[in-house]
Amino acid sequence: MEIGSIGIVGAGQMGNGIAHVCALAGYDVTLTDVRQDALDAARQTITRNLDRQVSREKITADARDAALAKIRMTATLIDTASSDLIIEAATERESVKQAIFEDLVPHLAPQTILTSNTSSISITRLGSRTDRPQKFMGFHFMNPVPVMQLVELIRGIATDAETFAACEAVVTRLGKQAATAEDFPAFIVNRILMPMINEAVYTLYEGVGTITSIDTSMKLGANHPMGPLELADFIGLDTCLAIMNVLHDGLADTKYRPCPLLVKYVEAGWLGRKTQRGFYDYRGDGDPIPTR
Ligand code: CAA
Repeated sequence: MEIGSIGIVGAGQMGNGIAHVCALAGYDVTLTDVRQDALDAARQTITRNLDRQVSREKITADARDAALAKIRMTATLIDTASSDLIIEAATERESVKQAIFEDLVPHLAPQTILTSNTSSISITRLGSRTDRPQKFMGFHFMNPVPVMQLVELIRGIATDAETFAACEAVVTRLGKQAATAEDFPAFIVNRILMPMINEAVYTLYEGVGTITSIDTSMKLGANHPMGPLELADFIGLDTCLAIMNVLHDGLADTKYRPCPLLVKYVEAGWLGRKTQRGFYDYRGDGDPIPTR
C-alpha cells in the first residue's frame, strides 16, 4: 500500500517536527491539536525551522513554500481520518492516546494505518484496543525531528508485514534511516539513553560531579553532542521520568529506579527548556546557568 497523505495528531515539539519533514517529502499533511494556540505556535515553529534550512542552503525557498502549502492545520481530530497513515504524537499518557484512537476509529477507511510516536508505551496494548491491531505500529521519531536521522519502527505482536513495509517506505521517502525494534519497554533508543541520563542525575545527586562537570565530561570525554543533563532538559524531565517509570514497572529491575533528584525536579515543575528551568536556568539572556 502506498502512502500519499499523513495525519498527525498533536502539534507539540514532536508533532510539528513530524509535519515539517512529511510535508518537505511531498506528503499531504493534516496536523491537528485540541488547542488552537498549539497549532498557531506549530505554524511559526515549522516556518522558522524551514527558514533555517533555507538559510543554511539545505533546501530551496521554493521547497520551503511547497512544504508549507502541504500542511493543513485543524482543531478537529476527525479531519485527519481520511489520511492513509496517521501518526499520533500527543501527550505521552496512555489514556490520552487511547481516547484519540477511540475517537478516530469509527471514521477510518479499512486500509488506514494507525501509528503512535510513543517513546515507551506498549504498541501491542495500544493496538489491541483499536479495530485494527494488524494495521497498528510504533513510528518513533527523535528530537529535533528535522535533524535526527533515525526513526524507530516498532512492530506490535499483531502488526502485519504489509503495514511494516508501508511505514518503512515512508521513512525512506523522508530521507531518514529506520531501525526495527521489538515491542518491549522503551524500545531501543530510550532503553539505553534514559538509564544513562538517570545515572547522570544520580552522579549529581551523590555529589560525584556538578552539573557542569558531568556535562563537560560526557561532551568532551565521550564526544556526545550534548551533556546528559543538558539533553535531559532538551527532552523534558517529565518525559525522562515517565520513561524511567515505564522501564522500572515493565522490567521490574531495580537498575531502572528513577533518581529521587529527577523526581524532585519534576515535582518542582522544573521540566527543562520548555518551562525555562531544569538542570539549567534558561530565563536570562546569556548562557544557561546550572541550577545546582
Ligand atoms: N529544525 C531544523 N534544523 C535544525 C533544528 C530544527 N529544530 N535544530 C537544529 N537544526 C540544525 C541547524 O540548522 C544546524 O544545521 P547545519 O548542520 O546545516 O548547520 C544543525 O541542526 C546543528 O544545529 P546547531 O548548530 O544550532 O546546534 P548544535 O550543533 O548544537 O546541534 C543538536 C543541535 C542537533 C540538537 C545537537 O546538539 C544534538 O544532536 N543533540 C542531541 C540530540 C539527541 O540526542 N536527540 C535525541 C533525544 S532522545 C529522543 O528524541 C527520543 C525520545 O523519545 C525522548
